[in-house]
Amino acid sequence: MAVSIHPFDTALGAEVRGLDISRPVDEESFAIVNDAYKKHSVLLFRNQELTPQQHIAFSRRFGKLEIHVLDQWCHADHPEILIVSNIKDKDRHIGVPHAGRYWHTDLSYMVAPSRGSLLYAIEIPEQNGRALGDTRFASAVAAYDALSEEIKKRIADLSATFSLAHHRSKLMADGADENPLTAEQQAKVPVAVHKIVQENPLTGRKCLFVNEGHVVEIVGLAQEESRELLAMLSRHVTKPEFVYRHRWQVGDLLMWDNVATQHIAEFDYALPQRRYLLRTTLEGVALA
Ligand code: OGA
Ligand code: MN
Repeated sequence: MAVSIHPFDTALGAEVRGLDISRPVDEESFAIVNDAYKKHSVLLFRNQELTPQQHIAFSRRFGKLEIHVLDQWCHADHPEILIVSNIKDKDRHIGVPHAGRYWHTDLSYMVAPSRGSLLYAIEIPEQNGRALGDTRFASAVAAYDALSEEIKKRIADLSATFSLAHHRSKLMADGADENPLTAEQQAKVPVAVHKIVQENPLTGRKCLFVNEGHVVEIVGLAQEESRELLAMLSRHVTKPEFVYRHRWQVGDLLMWDNVATQHIAEFDYALPQRRYLLRTTLEGVALA
Protein backbone atom coordinates (compact mmCIF):
# COMPACT_ATOMS: atom_id res chain seq x y z
CA MET A 1 0.00 0.00 0.00
CA ALA A 2 1.34 3.44 -0.92
CA VAL A 3 1.91 5.99 1.80
CA SER A 4 -0.66 8.81 1.86
CA ILE A 5 -1.11 12.01 3.90
CA HIS A 6 -4.47 13.06 5.37
CA PRO A 7 -4.43 16.55 6.91
CA PHE A 8 -6.65 17.20 9.93
CA ASP A 9 -9.16 20.04 9.70
CA THR A 10 -7.19 21.96 12.34
CA ALA A 11 -4.34 24.50 12.14
CA LEU A 12 -1.79 21.67 12.19
CA GLY A 13 -1.47 17.91 12.01
CA ALA A 14 -2.03 15.08 9.53
CA GLU A 15 -2.39 11.32 9.59
CA VAL A 16 0.04 9.21 7.59
CA ARG A 17 -1.53 6.02 6.25
CA GLY A 18 -0.04 3.04 4.53
CA LEU A 19 3.25 2.87 6.42
CA ASP A 20 4.43 0.02 8.64
CA ILE A 21 7.13 1.63 10.73
CA SER A 22 8.37 -1.68 12.10
CA ARG A 23 9.90 -2.36 8.65
CA PRO A 24 12.57 -0.40 6.84
CA VAL A 25 10.98 2.62 5.15
CA ASP A 26 12.09 3.14 1.54
CA GLU A 27 13.53 6.49 0.38
CA GLU A 28 10.46 7.51 -1.58
CA SER A 29 8.05 6.92 1.31
CA PHE A 30 10.42 8.61 3.72
CA ALA A 31 10.58 11.71 1.49
CA ILE A 32 6.75 11.91 1.51
CA VAL A 33 6.69 11.64 5.31
CA ASN A 34 9.49 14.18 5.75
CA ASP A 35 7.73 16.71 3.49
CA ALA A 36 4.47 16.17 5.38
CA TYR A 37 6.31 16.71 8.67
CA LYS A 38 7.56 20.11 7.50
CA LYS A 39 4.13 21.06 6.21
CA HIS A 40 1.87 19.81 9.03
CA SER A 41 4.22 19.84 12.08
CA VAL A 42 2.35 16.96 13.78
CA LEU A 43 2.11 13.51 12.17
CA LEU A 44 0.05 10.57 13.37
CA PHE A 45 0.84 6.96 12.43
CA ARG A 46 -1.92 4.65 13.74
CA ASN A 47 -1.87 0.93 14.61
CA GLN A 48 1.89 0.52 14.85
CA GLU A 49 3.52 -2.39 16.65
CA LEU A 50 7.02 -1.29 17.50
CA THR A 51 9.87 -2.68 19.52
CA PRO A 52 12.15 -0.04 21.07
CA GLN A 53 14.73 -0.89 18.38
CA GLN A 54 12.22 -0.25 15.57
CA HIS A 55 11.05 2.99 17.20
CA ILE A 56 14.69 4.13 17.43
CA ALA A 57 15.53 3.04 13.87
CA PHE A 58 12.63 5.02 12.39
CA SER A 59 13.45 8.08 14.54
CA ARG A 60 17.08 8.00 13.36
CA ARG A 61 15.93 8.50 9.79
CA PHE A 62 15.27 12.12 10.82
CA GLY A 63 18.64 12.61 12.53
CA LYS A 64 20.58 11.98 15.71
CA LEU A 65 18.77 11.22 18.96
CA GLU A 66 19.08 12.87 22.33
CA ILE A 67 19.64 11.03 25.58
CA HIS A 68 17.32 12.93 27.89
CA VAL A 69 18.87 14.78 30.80
CA LEU A 70 16.27 13.24 33.14
CA ASP A 71 18.26 10.01 32.93
CA GLN A 72 16.39 8.35 35.81
CA TRP A 73 13.54 7.91 33.31
CA CYS A 74 15.48 6.72 30.30
CA HIS A 75 14.85 3.12 29.20
CA ALA A 76 17.41 0.87 30.93
CA ASP A 77 18.41 -0.97 27.72
CA HIS A 78 17.82 1.87 25.24
CA PRO A 79 18.76 5.22 26.79
CA GLU A 80 17.57 7.05 23.62
CA ILE A 81 14.06 6.22 24.84
CA LEU A 82 12.39 8.32 27.52
CA ILE A 83 9.57 6.64 29.43
CA VAL A 84 6.45 8.77 29.90
CA SER A 85 4.19 7.10 32.43
CA ASN A 86 2.19 7.42 35.64
CA ILE A 87 3.06 3.84 36.65
CA LYS A 88 4.97 3.18 39.87
CA ASP A 89 7.19 0.26 40.80
CA LYS A 90 6.75 0.15 44.57
CA ASP A 91 7.13 3.83 45.41
CA ARG A 92 9.23 4.81 42.44
CA HIS A 93 7.90 6.35 39.23
CA ILE A 94 9.09 4.28 36.26
CA GLY A 95 8.85 7.24 33.85
CA VAL A 96 8.27 10.98 33.70
CA PRO A 97 5.00 11.34 35.61
CA HIS A 98 4.32 14.99 34.76
CA ALA A 99 5.39 15.31 31.12
CA GLY A 100 3.26 18.05 29.65
CA ARG A 101 1.80 19.59 32.82
CA TYR A 102 2.23 23.02 31.21
CA TRP A 103 2.35 24.19 27.60
CA HIS A 104 5.91 23.61 26.43
CA THR A 105 8.15 22.32 23.67
CA ASP A 106 10.59 19.52 24.39
CA LEU A 107 14.10 20.67 25.29
CA SER A 108 13.37 24.37 24.68
CA TYR A 109 15.67 24.95 27.69
CA MET A 110 18.67 23.73 25.68
CA VAL A 111 20.90 25.80 23.40
CA ALA A 112 19.84 23.45 20.61
CA PRO A 113 16.20 22.56 21.31
CA SER A 114 14.91 19.33 19.81
CA ARG A 115 13.75 19.33 16.19
CA GLY A 116 11.09 16.78 17.01
CA SER A 117 9.80 14.08 19.32
CA LEU A 118 8.22 10.70 18.49
CA LEU A 119 5.86 9.39 21.17
CA TYR A 120 4.54 5.84 20.96
CA ALA A 121 1.46 4.76 22.94
CA ILE A 122 1.56 1.36 24.64
CA GLU A 123 -0.99 1.81 27.43
CA ILE A 124 -3.67 4.52 27.40
CA PRO A 125 -6.10 5.04 30.29
CA GLU A 126 -9.79 4.99 29.52
CA GLN A 127 -13.15 5.37 31.15
CA ASN A 128 -16.40 3.98 29.73
CA GLY A 129 -14.61 3.24 26.46
CA ARG A 130 -13.29 6.78 26.04
CA ALA A 131 -9.55 7.42 26.12
CA LEU A 132 -8.22 9.77 28.79
CA GLY A 133 -4.98 11.74 28.86
CA ASP A 134 -5.35 13.59 25.54
CA THR A 135 -2.46 15.76 24.35
CA ARG A 136 -3.11 19.14 22.74
CA PHE A 137 -0.80 20.74 20.18
CA ALA A 138 -0.77 24.41 19.20
CA SER A 139 0.65 25.83 16.00
CA ALA A 140 3.21 28.48 16.97
CA VAL A 141 3.38 29.39 13.27
CA ALA A 142 -0.34 30.12 12.86
CA ALA A 143 -0.22 31.95 16.20
CA TYR A 144 2.66 34.15 15.05
CA ASP A 145 0.97 34.92 11.74
CA ALA A 146 -2.17 36.04 13.57
CA LEU A 147 -0.38 38.59 15.79
CA SER A 148 -0.96 42.27 15.03
CA GLU A 149 1.82 44.13 13.22
CA GLU A 150 2.26 46.23 16.35
CA ILE A 151 2.96 43.19 18.54
CA LYS A 152 5.19 41.61 15.88
CA LYS A 153 7.28 44.77 15.92
CA ARG A 154 7.35 44.92 19.71
CA ILE A 155 8.63 41.35 20.12
CA ALA A 156 10.86 41.12 17.04
CA ASP A 157 14.15 41.52 18.91
CA LEU A 158 13.21 40.22 22.34
CA SER A 159 14.82 37.15 23.91
CA ALA A 160 13.77 35.04 26.87
CA THR A 161 15.49 32.74 29.35
CA PHE A 162 14.47 29.07 29.37
CA SER A 163 15.21 26.70 32.26
CA LEU A 164 14.47 23.10 33.17
CA ALA A 165 15.30 23.80 36.83
CA HIS A 166 12.67 26.56 36.77
CA HIS A 167 10.15 24.13 35.25
CA ARG A 168 10.78 21.61 38.02
CA SER A 169 10.49 24.24 40.76
CA LYS A 170 7.17 25.24 39.24
CA LEU A 171 5.98 21.62 39.28
CA MET A 172 6.95 21.20 42.91
CA ALA A 173 5.36 24.52 43.87
CA ASP A 174 2.16 23.25 42.23
CA GLY A 175 2.27 20.16 44.47
CA ALA A 176 3.70 17.60 42.00
CA ASP A 177 5.52 14.64 43.47
CA GLU A 178 8.87 15.50 41.84
CA ASN A 179 12.50 16.06 42.76
CA PRO A 180 14.81 18.93 41.87
CA LEU A 181 17.50 18.28 39.27
CA THR A 182 20.69 16.68 40.55
CA ALA A 183 23.88 18.75 40.37
CA GLU A 184 25.03 16.70 37.33
CA GLN A 185 21.73 17.27 35.53
CA GLN A 186 21.76 20.97 36.36
CA ALA A 187 25.28 21.27 34.92
CA LYS A 188 24.08 19.72 31.61
CA VAL A 189 21.23 22.20 31.18
CA PRO A 190 22.16 25.66 32.36
CA VAL A 191 19.70 28.44 31.49
CA ALA A 192 19.39 29.01 27.72
CA VAL A 193 18.55 32.29 26.02
CA HIS A 194 16.50 32.28 22.80
CA LYS A 195 14.78 34.90 20.70
CA ILE A 196 11.04 34.68 21.21
CA VAL A 197 10.41 34.87 17.48
CA GLN A 198 12.22 32.04 15.73
CA GLU A 199 12.55 31.01 12.15
CA ASN A 200 11.86 27.31 12.11
CA PRO A 201 15.13 25.68 10.93
CA LEU A 202 13.05 23.10 9.02
CA THR A 203 10.90 25.52 7.05
CA GLY A 204 12.18 29.06 7.53
CA ARG A 205 8.70 30.07 8.75
CA LYS A 206 8.45 32.42 11.70
CA CYS A 207 6.94 31.14 14.92
CA LEU A 208 6.30 32.31 18.44
CA PHE A 209 8.82 30.61 20.68
CA VAL A 210 7.69 31.28 24.25
CA ASN A 211 6.04 28.70 26.42
CA GLU A 212 4.64 28.74 29.94
CA GLY A 213 6.52 25.63 31.07
CA HIS A 214 10.16 26.55 30.49
CA VAL A 215 10.37 30.33 30.09
CA VAL A 216 11.59 32.24 33.14
CA GLU A 217 11.46 35.82 31.86
CA ILE A 218 11.96 38.11 28.91
CA VAL A 219 15.44 39.58 28.94
CA GLY A 220 15.72 43.30 29.62
CA LEU A 221 12.12 43.96 30.69
CA ALA A 222 10.94 44.89 34.17
CA GLN A 223 9.52 41.85 35.98
CA GLU A 224 5.90 42.96 35.73
CA GLU A 225 6.14 43.86 32.04
CA SER A 226 7.84 40.55 31.28
CA ARG A 227 5.16 38.63 33.18
CA GLU A 228 2.32 40.41 31.41
CA LEU A 229 3.82 40.01 27.94
CA LEU A 230 4.54 36.32 28.53
CA ALA A 231 1.03 35.71 29.83
CA MET A 232 -0.48 37.48 26.84
CA LEU A 233 1.65 35.55 24.33
CA SER A 234 1.06 32.21 26.06
CA ARG A 235 -2.70 32.78 26.04
CA HIS A 236 -2.49 33.75 22.39
CA VAL A 237 -0.55 30.66 21.16
CA THR A 238 -2.95 28.28 22.82
CA LYS A 239 -6.21 29.73 21.52
CA PRO A 240 -8.53 26.98 20.25
CA GLU A 241 -8.18 28.03 16.59
CA PHE A 242 -4.47 27.11 16.67
CA VAL A 243 -4.93 23.78 18.47
CA TYR A 244 -5.23 20.09 17.54
CA ARG A 245 -6.32 17.79 20.37
CA HIS A 246 -5.03 14.25 20.09
CA ARG A 247 -7.12 11.45 21.55
CA TRP A 248 -4.73 8.53 21.94
CA GLN A 249 -5.16 4.95 20.80
CA VAL A 250 -2.81 2.14 21.71
CA GLY A 251 -0.41 1.75 18.76
CA ASP A 252 -0.29 5.47 17.89
CA LEU A 253 3.06 6.94 17.03
CA LEU A 254 2.79 10.71 17.10
CA MET A 255 5.62 12.96 16.02
CA TRP A 256 5.81 16.72 16.38
CA ASP A 257 8.04 19.63 15.50
CA ASN A 258 9.30 21.24 18.71
CA VAL A 259 9.92 24.65 17.20
CA ALA A 260 6.72 25.04 15.18
CA THR A 261 4.39 23.72 17.88
CA GLN A 262 3.77 23.59 21.63
CA HIS A 263 1.97 20.87 23.56
CA ILE A 264 0.25 20.12 26.86
CA ALA A 265 -1.14 16.92 28.37
CA GLU A 266 -4.49 16.37 30.05
CA PHE A 267 -4.26 14.89 33.55
CA ASP A 268 -7.80 13.52 33.82
CA TYR A 269 -6.81 9.97 34.92
CA ALA A 270 -5.10 8.40 37.93
CA LEU A 271 -3.83 4.99 39.01
CA PRO A 272 -5.02 2.25 38.73
CA GLN A 273 -5.66 3.74 35.25
CA ARG A 274 -2.27 3.23 33.62
CA ARG A 275 -0.59 5.35 30.98
CA TYR A 276 2.66 4.19 29.36
CA LEU A 277 4.32 5.75 26.33
CA LEU A 278 7.85 5.75 24.96
CA ARG A 279 9.49 8.78 23.42
CA THR A 280 12.50 9.39 21.25
CA THR A 281 13.75 12.96 20.93
CA LEU A 282 15.59 14.29 17.87
CA GLU A 283 18.58 16.55 18.27
CA GLY A 284 18.11 20.07 16.97
CA VAL A 285 20.33 22.94 15.93
CA ALA A 286 21.37 25.88 18.13
CA LEU A 287 18.73 28.60 17.93
CA ALA A 288 19.37 32.34 18.03
C1 OGA B 1 6.21 14.54 26.00
C2 OGA B 1 4.97 15.12 26.55
C3 OGA B 1 2.66 14.70 26.90
C4 OGA B 1 1.80 13.52 27.06
O1 OGA B 1 6.33 13.30 25.97
O2 OGA B 1 7.05 15.30 25.55
O3 OGA B 1 4.92 16.29 26.80
O4 OGA B 1 0.59 13.66 26.81
N1 OGA B 1 3.99 14.26 26.70
O5 OGA B 1 2.31 12.45 27.43
MN1 MN C 1 6.68 17.30 25.95
